[in-house]
Amino acid sequence: MSSSDTKIITVIGSGLIGRSWAMVFASGGYSVKIYDNQPGQSTKAIVEIKKQLQELEDAQMLRGEATALQQVALISSYDDLSQALEGAFFVQECVFEQLEVKQSIFQDIERLVGKDVILSSSTSCLVPSNVFSKVQNRSRCLVSHPVNPPYYVKLVELVPHPETAPAVMDTTHTLMTKVGQAPVRLRKEIDGFALNRVQAAIIAESWRLVQDGIISVKDIDLVMSEGLGMRYAFIGPMETMHLNAPEGLEDYMKRYGPGIQRVLTSFGPVPDFCGEGSKGIINASKTTKRAVKSN
Ligand SMILES: NC(=O)c1ccc[n+]([C@@H]2O[C@H](COP(=O)([O-])OP(=O)(O)OC[C@H]3O[C@@H](n4cnc5c(N)ncnc54)[C@H](O)[C@@H]3O)[C@@H](O)[C@H]2O)c1
Ligand SMILES: *[C@@H]1O[C@H](CO)[C@@H](O)[C@H](O)[C@H]1NC(C)=O
Ligand SMILES: *[C@@H]1O[C@H](CO)[C@@H](O)[C@H](O)[C@H]1NC(C)=O
Repeated sequence: MSSSDTKIITVIGSGLIGRSWAMVFASGGYSVKIYDNQPGQSTKAIVEIKKQLQELEDAQMLRGEATALQQVALISSYDDLSQALEGAFFVQECVFEQLEVKQSIFQDIERLVGKDVILSSSTSCLVPSNVFSKVQNRSRCLVSHPVNPPYYVKLVELVPHPETAPAVMDTTHTLMTKVGQAPVRLRKEIDGFALNRVQAAIIAESWRLVQDGIISVKDIDLVMSEGLGMRYAFIGPMETMHLNAPEGLEDYMKRYGPGIQRVLTSFGPVPDFCGEGSKGIINASKTTKRAVKSN
């Protein structure tokens, strides 16, 4: 592709996620325009991206066909929103996780782009019907929820607004696949989307088991890292069950369904994560854990 027909994606917000999306899109050969409302911030982001891409190249972990320098050359920075949006067919928003900030930036973006431009949000926790409530044409809007950091973790949850056009879901799915991500579609919006709902279930039961004195903080982590996690790193729960009984999933449920149901009915209420009841767990985790930051 010559530079004149390279398709343009605009990334709004140049923090952790914005920078990572820019790297992902550039690795797929797209021209990426980064905008941040903090003057100079998006220029700084490119300096950081360049450093990261060169380190990845040195470690032979660079994604895409082009060299680090060729990929950096695809990325440009803007302090002006309308310039940043010019020519883009797809907009990936990565601003603060605050509803009003997202609603207002999408209102501004909609005024500045053509009617076929897709508006996509990186939000972790806000549902599309809230994020896009101030956009006129919601059929072009969706959430593309990445997992941090999207350069290394490929899952992207595509979550539609009730009015999102199927073609917009399809185009985004194709785009994400093309740049090497692993998109999944939710058919409807739901609080927590899919990944965070499954994660919440695991967190809740792990917390209860520790809080109820059944197991230590260190050992519940081993249950995952040396047990369940080994499996789920490669195949999902449905396929695991299917492979775990001679006749597949139906057979699995005949054998193990009643046991799973019995265990599920013994799950307690939503645990106390912040009050008195949490102190022991937090104390114990301080002494056994390295500091980790994830979302
Ligand atoms: N960090 C994660 O683990 C993670 C994972 C998945 C999704 N997300 C989501 O991605 C989004 C961005 O998260 P992050 O961790 O990169 O945040 P961040 O704080 O690192 O970056 C946010 C950036 O947006 C800029 N910004 C704020 N308001 C703006 C506006 N009105 N216009 C333009 N730029 C603006 C800020 O200057 C900053 O550079 C959030 O919605 C978050 O929930 C984060
Ligand atoms: C709304 O967005 C869709 C999807 O991008 C587009 O096809 C349609 O023309 C838009 N409608 C209006 C009135 O702008
Ligand atoms: C916190 O941990 C320390 C060291 O393991 C222990 O001595 C102390 O009793 C704990 N405090 C609480 C409130 O659990």
